[in-house]
Amino acid sequence: MGDRNEIKGKKTYCVTGATGYIGSWLVKSLLEKGYRVHATLRNQEKASNLVKLWQGRDRLSLFRADLQEDGSFDDAVRGCDGVFHVAASMEFGVPPAPNLDSYVEEEVIDPAIRGTLNVLKACVKSNTVRKIVFTSSISTLTAKDSSGGWIPIVDESCQTPVHHVLKTKASGWVYVLSKLLTEEAAFRFAEENGIDLISVITTTVAGPFLTPTVPASIQVLLSPITG
Ligand SMILES: NC(=O)c1ccc[n+]([C@@H]2O[C@H](COP(=O)([O-])OP(=O)(O)OC[C@H]3O[C@@H](n4cnc5c(N)ncnc54)[C@H](OP(=O)(O)O)[C@@H]3O)[C@@H](O)[C@H]2O)c1
Repeated sequence: MGDRNEIKGKKTYCVTGATGYIGSWLVKSLLEKGYRVHATLRNQEKASNLVKLWQGRDRLSLFRADLQEDGSFDDAVRGCDGVFHVAASMEFGVPPAPNLDSYVEEEVIDPAIRGTLNVLKACVKSNTVRKIVFTSSISTLTAKDSSGGWIPIVDESCQTPVHHVLKTKASGWVYVLSKLLTEEAAFRFAEENGIDLISVITTTVAGPFLTPTVPASIQVLLSPITG
């Protein structure tokens, strides 16, 4: 994102989901690098401990924003050079429903897409945002080719097809579907609106956390030990 010395202390980045595991580290890192940060959160109280851990608070502004409220990100994104869109609902439990696929579509996928488009629309309105980073997941990729053989190097060309996710409904399929379809909708919107969007395929994250509770990805990684 340009020469570090030139941009230091000048550029402003918005981080959505700042009270989450990845978002809270991202805010910390950006502040430590001298950037101004617009951090979005749903719950001010959740930020009270984090604010003490984030150095450079004079360059930090907090904004309340909810993915499910239209226009909610407009204030946070206004004046930003770039946006790290990290926020996402991590509620993927689905009750046994007679028509599971349409339940998931209406209750999980549509809100997830609406939420991300909400952020992207705010970026278009801002007229200042030049780059947006969408947070995808390694869970959208497969290490197997169409004949079931192992692929030696896995990259973005190894995306699991949506029809395969729907057909197999393997563990975590709702999350995978939500990431795949949200990313697809985001790229479509970006192309239609001349937005520079990239998607980071994040690996499963573990390590120290700033949040007061153990992040879900760490719980998952520890589950073979903890049961
Ligand atoms: N951790 C991993 O291993 C991993 C791997 C691959 C991809 N990812 C992706 O990385 C992103 C962050 O993951 P994480 O592990 O940091 O999860 P997390 O700790 O659960 O953080 C999720 C963040 O999204 C916010 N959020 C949820 N629903 C929202 C809504 N309706 N409006 C506004 N904000 C909302 C949460 O706010 P609250 O704090 O208020 O709940 C929280 O700040 C997600 O997109 C996830 O899919 C994570």
